Amino acid sequence: MNAEVFDTKEVQDLLTAATNIAGQEGNARFKQILHRLLSDLFKAIDDLDITPDEVWAGVNYINQLGRDGEAALLAAGLGLEKYLDIRMDHADKLAGIEGGTPRTIEGPLYVAGAPVRDGMSRIDIDPDQDAGPLVIRGVVTDTDGKPLAGAIVECWHANSKGFYSHFDPTGAQTEFNLRGAVKTGADGKYEFRTLMPVGYGCPPQGATQQLLDEIGRHGNRPAHVHFFVSADSHRKLTTQFNIEGDPLIWDDFAYATREELIPPVVEKTGGAALGLKDNAYKEIEFNFALTSLVQGKDNQLVHRLRAAVTA
Ligand code: DHB
Ligand code: FE
Repeated sequence: MNAEVFDTKEVQDLLTAATNIAGQEGNARFKQILHRLLSDLFKAIDDLDITPDEVWAGVNYINQLGRDGEAALLAAGLGLEKYLDIRMDHADKLAGIEGGTPRTIEGPLYVAGAPVRDGMSRIDIDPDQDAGPLVIRGVVTDTDGKPLAGAIVECWHANSKGFYSHFDPTGAQTEFNLRGAVKTGADGKYEFRTLMPVGYGCPPQGATQQLLDEIGRHGNRPAHVHFFVSADSHRKLTTQFNIEGDPLIWDDFAYATREELIPPVVEKTGGAALGLKDNAYKEIEFNFALTSLVQGKDNQLVHRLRAAVTA
């Protein structure tokens, strides 16, 4: 069908009216964004001659995505969350901000409210016979390497099935299993005693996986551990590390892997003395360097809807 109508007055008037872009009422910024996105969609329909059937398939897909509660998952899978990181990295480069631990995506599975402990937290609450013990430890510093006292390190990760507490489809985990927070002392040190995670896979029947199937992509992530790190006078860091050796490290469906975020996994013994379930355990040392506030502000703090539970 040759129906190039985008540039006609009729269509431009329709976009103006539908978004109320010329009106006084409503939120100007929101109208600006909506007008641009809707215009881009209309233009794409013209350019690619997207059929009514294809448009309605897309509309119905959005309904399904909402029913599955997977919009944030799809955002990561389509690289949107990574794109926001790329933009923040670039803004930092232009501003001459360097030396901090690299950021990477938050993902949709954080839960606020985990208990905060001093220096060390044991976060494997539920038994998991398929996961061996893991100690994650390190120091929080500024970009000059000076330890930061009173920093909060929040940590969350999956169990041996790749499931996160609070979002576990089997309902098997208690609230805050494999989630915790540690406050550093004067030495800046933090430690989590936990179990080795396994990589996450998108719900196989969900809308995200349905889209990925359509484009011939998998929906899996390598094993990883998430962190938020915050301290007075510093910007909050959102990051993760991958578990070295995972075959998906450079094939993450959410594009979170970075060279600097693959710390070595070291085999250790002496776990019994630490209260771990086996004497042999794995240890990952990972230090965090936080960047300073910019003109007294965290200029990259991200606000988004997050799950929260009262401990
Ligand atoms: C996503 C991120 C995660 O860390 C995870 O475990 C699952 C999904 C995501 O970005 O979609
Ligand atoms: Fe994750």
